[in-house]
Amino acid sequence: MNCFSRLLLQWYEQNRRDLPWRNQTDPYKIWISEIILQQTRVEQGKDYYLRFIQRFPDVLSLASAEEDEVLKYWQGLGYYSRARNLHCGARYVAEMYNGIFPDTREAILKIKGVGNYTASAIAAIAFNLPYAAIDGNVYRVLSRVFDVNIPIDSPKGKTYFAELAQQVLDVHHAGDFNQAMMDFGSLQCKPSHPDCENCCMADMCLANKNHTQHLLPIKQKSIQIKKRFFYYLCVCQGNDVYLQKRSADDIWAGLYEFPLIESETELSWEQITATPYFSHALHHCQFTLEHISPVHKHQLTHRLVIGRFFYIKLQQGAPQWPPKMKAIHKYLLPAYPVSRLMEKGIDNMP
Ligand code: ADE
Repeated sequence: MNCFSRLLLQWYEQNRRDLPWRNQTDPYKIWISEIILQQTRVEQGKDYYLRFIQRFPDVLSLASAEEDEVLKYWQGLGYYSRARNLHCGARYVAEMYNGIFPDTREAILKIKGVGNYTASAIAAIAFNLPYAAIDGNVYRVLSRVFDVNIPIDSPKGKTYFAELAQQVLDVHHAGDFNQAMMDFGSLQCKPSHPDCENCCMADMCLANKNHTQHLLPIKQKSIQIKKRFFYYLCVCQGNDVYLQKRSADDIWAGLYEFPLIESETELSWEQITATPYFSHALHHCQFTLEHISPVHKHQLTHRLVIGRFFYIKLQQGAPQWPPKMKAIHKYLLPAYPVSRLMEKGIDNMP
């Protein structure tokens, strides 16, 4: 075994986190945990994982559920395509493999929403197959220990780190090796405050020797964050409120929302009432604007959503909404899967 792996696995034995998806090798459960952890911190992910597994303990229970219910269990976690893909993936495994999770990396990779990282993680953790799973932790740890200044988001960097990770992988303990990398990256070799004074790798770590750990890993591009303005119309008529299922092919697809005007620029109430959407929907109606919420900011990887809710009371007339809009009793709102932003709008209804 190479020196890096030996130190890493020794460290893991003494410092491993006791997490609910560990100490078992059910590939279904590992799949669910890895998808949850793709864009979610471990501490937040734990409770979601436990609730999800309790309701959907195996492939077949997930495959036979309704999408709305799966999304409801995901509510608040964000990046909802993960839940839609899990649902779709469970149906695929149910049909193609009779509900028995496939046991090769190649077959696992064909499941919707499973990329290189997740396929390697499941193959290694569930089946001890010799694949290194490469995520942000791995780029950080390897770039520091071996003092590599090739940008991790360049094609050259991707190949270089994939080969390096595969070289240092302990093929006999692939599952533990990958989980050790995740824990070591999260607890010891942290992004901004690596604990180099108390590190088992201090002597072999080239970044520690060269004082470059705070500069690594190197990235080529900084991501451009676009602003989007979301103006929700919470239109109440008696005890009813209007709601639609979001069909846009984006992160909130399948979730429910109030009638919505999206814009790339900031709009005033006057500008909102002058949009074709608003004037078409409400031009024969009498209404009062009861309240305007403060701005709620919602930061996503590539965009900043700036949301605002307009609480409108309808006195007379029938609004002309697009066809998929439904009027629902406002007490039924909690039954629908919604985004965090919509949750705020619902909580503040007058
Ligand atoms: N991050 C991604 N996968 C993980 C896992 N299995 N354990 C801890 N952190 C993780």
